[in-house]
Amino acid sequence: MLSRTDEKARGLAELPPVQSDSLLQLIALCNADPRADKIDVGVGVFRDAEGRTPILKVMKEAEQILRDTQVTKAYLGSAGDKRFAELLRPILLGEHADDERILGVQTPGGCGALRLGFELIATANPGARVFMGTPSWPNHAPIIDAVRLERVDYPYYERAQAAIRFDDMIASLARAGPGDVALLHGCCHNPTGADLSEDQWRQVRDVVVERGLIPFVDIAYQGFGRGLEEDAFGVRLILASCDEVIIAQSCDKNFSCYRDRVGSLFLKTGNPEASGRAMAHVFQRAREMWSMPPDHGAACARIILDDPELRARWLVELAGMRDRINSVRQRLAAAHPRLAFIGQQYGMFSMLPLSKEQVLKLREDHAIYMADSGRFNVVGMGDHQIDRFTAAVVEALEA
Ligand code: LMR
Repeated sequence: MLSRTDEKARGLAELPPVQSDSLLQLIALCNADPRADKIDVGVGVFRDAEGRTPILKVMKEAEQILRDTQVTKAYLGSAGDKRFAELLRPILLGEHADDERILGVQTPGGCGALRLGFELIATANPGARVFMGTPSWPNHAPIIDAVRLERVDYPYYERAQAAIRFDDMIASLARAGPGDVALLHGCCHNPTGADLSEDQWRQVRDVVVERGLIPFVDIAYQGFGRGLEEDAFGVRLILASCDEVIIAQSCDKNFSCYRDRVGSLFLKTGNPEASGRAMAHVFQRAREMWSMPPDHGAACARIILDDPELRARWLVELAGMRDRINSVRQRLAAAHPRLAFIGQQYGMFSMLPLSKEQVLKLREDHAIYMADSGRFNVVGMGDHQIDRFTAAVVEALEA
């Protein structure tokens, strides 16, 4: 499906310029900066204390096993690796893992799952409105717009106060009607790091149920916040109360296999037959867009999850990434009272109350690359860069 900006053109030469995703532009800008001490806290990839994004040891091992044992690369079909989706069920769905009304399919990353989920909504109910919190991941709005669903923004976060605008969020969702979609971040909110408390999740669930909304949960960072189980609290609470749910999931982060594009889409309807029919539509949309999802990363994740020893080692490596995220958060929070809020948040992101000009000045004067919105990746920098980062940021905040 072409995006709206393409409609005006008659030939390729008349295509208007594209407003490209600022995060992607930031990667290119940072790569082109020759300064050796540059700090890249733009795009969301985990980096270790040395500032590297290593391949997990279990992933390397799974790749070797795959290489040694794979006997064919013949097609798997639109559902991709079925065993992969099966093994994810207890991790994501917990006590709902055996619910036959919930069906899952492998997708190219969480982004593919989001697109597929919104395609399904648009197929079922083109009049549905999608209520999206602001700020949100910069690619949410373009995906919703691309499937031509009406988007209604609801306020989620107040940057100046570093606080969730919870009352405003609830009031906005209360204005949505049956069949409308509530887009929710499962954990480790991107771009703010400000997650709903368990009590707030319950209140969101109540309004979703009362208004007859379809909750669409995007969970791309499970295991990066409080723990694999804890981070799935919202997803499981919603599943316990709602008959129709969509979940876009990503393994790109918790398996650190970003470029391999490993994700899944789960859907739930009121009965297994209806879920099967909805899934047939999902397969059809997937067939039209990418035919079959890429295999390599999902096959490796499947090898890891299917082997108790590899699985246990994955959990240790995942806990290592989570511990680093949380310890850098504490270090930043302790550096200055203006940064204290960072210690209360989860996941890779936080948002600084900086103007676009201040963000640009940090880029020019200090080679610090963060999104124009003030979003930065708390583990984008190595340990040796943290003091320089906090000094420059505090100076900017106090200017
Ligand atoms: C991010 O938000 O930085 C990541 O999800 C990367 C992306 O695709 O935007």
